Amino acid sequence: MRAIDALGPYPFERLRQLLQDIPSTHESFDLTIGEPKVAPPALVARTIAAQDQDWNCYPPIPGTPELREAMHVWLCRRFALAGLATNFDVDPTCGSREGLFLLAMLTRFCAKSNNVQKSSRHNLIAMPNPSYAVYAGSARIAGAETLALDTVAGAFPTPDQLDVDILADLRLVYLCSPDNPSGNILPEATIRAWITAAYKHDFIVASDECYSELYAKTPLQGILAIAARMGTDQPFDHVVCLNSLSKRSSCAGLRSGLLAGDPKLIDMIRKIKSFAGNRMPLALQTTSIALWQDEDHVQIIRRHYQENYVLSNCLFADQPGFTPVQAGMFLWLRVNDDIEVTKHFWREGGLRVLPGRFLCEPEQIAPGKHFYPRCAGASCA
Ligand SMILES: Cc1ncc(COP(=O)(O)O)c(C=O)c1O
Repeated sequence: MRAIDALGPYPFERLRQLLQDIPSTHESFDLTIGEPKVAPPALVARTIAAQDQDWNCYPPIPGTPELREAMHVWLCRRFALAGLATNFDVDPTCGSREGLFLLAMLTRFCAKSNNVQKSSRHNLIAMPNPSYAVYAGSARIAGAETLALDTVAGAFPTPDQLDVDILADLRLVYLCSPDNPSGNILPEATIRAWITAAYKHDFIVASDECYSELYAKTPLQGILAIAARMGTDQPFDHVVCLNSLSKRSSCAGLRSGLLAGDPKLIDMIRKIKSFAGNRMPLALQTTSIALWQDEDHVQIIRRHYQENYVLSNCLFADQPGFTPVQAGMFLWLRVNDDIEVTKHFWREGGLRVLPGRFLCEPEQIAPGKHFYPRCAGASCA
């Protein structure tokens, strides 16, 4: 097998293959993809249209100082860092997806420190199972082994539930809260435990918070604030978070995100970026500044999701095993056979949903578990 075949098809390609021969006479509703349907704020088109200069210039790789400042200020304000350590660095990314990918690449260059014993196993990158396919895909492209930590059965594991050998081999763990697809919110104690273990066993803990602004009632915590409150000398050591304007500002098309945390890691990411191709165009950097500085449009967008949470929580209240949606974008329904349900929804109603197993590391799923179709219900206008 060629190494690239280990990547397998992307989940949406698997879905296309699953449904391609099944006719549906209904109007099609695509509930598979986490693409926002709420209109972006008017300031986006306005700000981009006003950018008629500088198209001859290469944008700076670490972003303009103004953009870095706007992202830093947003993180401090949103995650209530006043009075706490704020000496984290921040870097613009082309969506949080780019940051997730680059972090996996980074593990190729991070030797474990001398006081951490490594076993003979390959490097390991851990992630929730099921999860966003980019985590496992990036790990494979980086030549790492994947460790899929099962969340279907219950809460996301804490590091003390893992073998010491595994922790010794771990280079990176992706956390996701609110989680795609389950909608789970990680408890602070779990995040703290991962930060402590990352420091002790010398691996990166990367918290994907790209759904952090979509919540029912209470603003969710971020890893930077949790790390800062732990009060250690170097609170952001080994710690990074990812966020983006894709869901927060309904601007997935802008490809504007951020990676923030441990200055040493951000520095290494910049080094990789100086050889790789992606830079955010200056006009989009300026637009991103305007978006990070504005919360009014975020409230309007959030209200839309909150209305959909109420609706879906009411509609599915009687469904066995249903957990009310509290955050994020997805309805995650418990069924006995996600493939059959996906085909049925398509055939009988024209609804495209994504079988949960397409977001799993298949070989690590125990037989007999329930599977879940993921419906991006909360993203419907
Ligand atoms: C969990 C998760 N992380 C990251 C991303 C990437 O989002 P973006 O690159 O648009 O910020 C997505 C997209 O749907 C996602 O679901």
